[in-house]
Amino acid sequence: METRGPLAMSQCLLLLLLLLLPYTYQGLAPGHFLPTQRPQDPPELHLINGTGQEPVTIMIFDINKIIKTSSSFELRTWDPEGVIFYGDTNPIDDWFVLALRDGRPEIQLHNPWAQLTVGAGPRLDDGTWHQVEVKIHGDSVLLRVDGEEVLCLRQVYKTVTNKPKPIMRIALGGLLFPSSNLRLPLVPALDGCLRQDAWLDRWAQTSASTQTGLRSCAVESQSGIFFPPGTHAQFSLQDLPQPQAESWAFSLDLGLQLAAGTGQLLALGTPENPSWLSLHLQDQDSGPLLSLWAQPQGRLFLGAAPGEASSASFCVDGLWAQGQKLDMDRALSRSQDIWTHSCPRTLGNSTDTSH
Ligand SMILES: *[C@@H]1O[C@H](CO)[C@@H](O)[C@H](O)[C@H]1NC(C)=O
Ligand SMILES: *[C@@H]1O[C@H](CO)[C@@H](O)[C@H](O)[C@H]1NC(C)=O
Repeated sequence: METRGPLAMSQCLLLLLLLLLPYTYQGLAPGHFLPTQRPQDPPELHLINGTGQEPVTIMIFDINKIIKTSSSFELRTWDPEGVIFYGDTNPIDDWFVLALRDGRPEIQLHNPWAQLTVGAGPRLDDGTWHQVEVKIHGDSVLLRVDGEEVLCLRQVYKTVTNKPKPIMRIALGGLLFPSSNLRLPLVPALDGCLRQDAWLDRWAQTSASTQTGLRSCAVESQSGIFFPPGTHAQFSLQDLPQPQAESWAFSLDLGLQLAAGTGQLLALGTPENPSWLSLHLQDQDSGPLLSLWAQPQGRLFLGAAPGEASSASFCVDGLWAQGQKLDMDRALSRSQDIWTHSCPRTLGNSTDTSH
């Protein structure tokens, strides 16, 4: 990282770069992260479709043919919040969601017999595989995690025959209605992987959309946020605390692991002038930073600058601005390829993180 230009010491720039780890070049050829998957294992499915507002796949079942009323899968994630799956017979008054909130499973359910939101079970956002099963048993819904029953909801379900449209839909990694229609809204995007998944009765399944997950799960990951080359994200400064003093002050706290390449790590500015403050810094006659907060177009840019061809890829962990943790799921906009809650465990030259 180079520091050029007059960043006057009289101006109070509090820039805490904690844990500036050295570049860990592993000499791996592009695309050769260490795979965790053996060739005979069934494929793993990444739950992120683009920026994560849409499911990665939708399955349709004929209700009259469903005999097995349970679904099971293994989940691996570092992401504490997002939708694992959504199911409905109609999105108005008969739907079910299994999600994570604060790392723990949450069920939201809305049908003619019950409407509820309940969290249960252990944290699952530790980057290891967890076995999860959801089962309808009589009038109950059971949730099992790693072989242990963590929740039993009684009197919440009835089998209805003679439905006008006897289909059930299951969507993975997203909802089939706006997230504001949830009983308790959450950000649906879940940076996680599924494997060994079995959804109701395979024989009752009438169709499935093609899987649109963009990322491979065959990379060992650690917690963090990974920016492949050229990727970027923006946050509105309106959503960050404003500097206190009339002189400019900006605090930033992050752990950084540089993989390869050169380019911008972070900047404060506007789309027209994105480099009031940037890492790496550029020659700039910096005006009072506070005035940026007064502008609706004030932005915190992460990763490649708008229009910049950057080859830098890096991991950051625990990124705070003005004492507020930056959540990539709440960015104003961002590249689809950013891993929002995970980092490859081995950072080599390789940056081919898509399929
Ligand atoms: C790593 O990147 C550098 C610079 O782009 C390149 O010269 C080198 O060949 C790359 N090494 C591998 C193993 O891909
Ligand atoms: C995945 O996202 C794309 C783009 O937003 C969308 O067209 C596609 O329908 C989504 N996939 C599913 C299964 O919804």
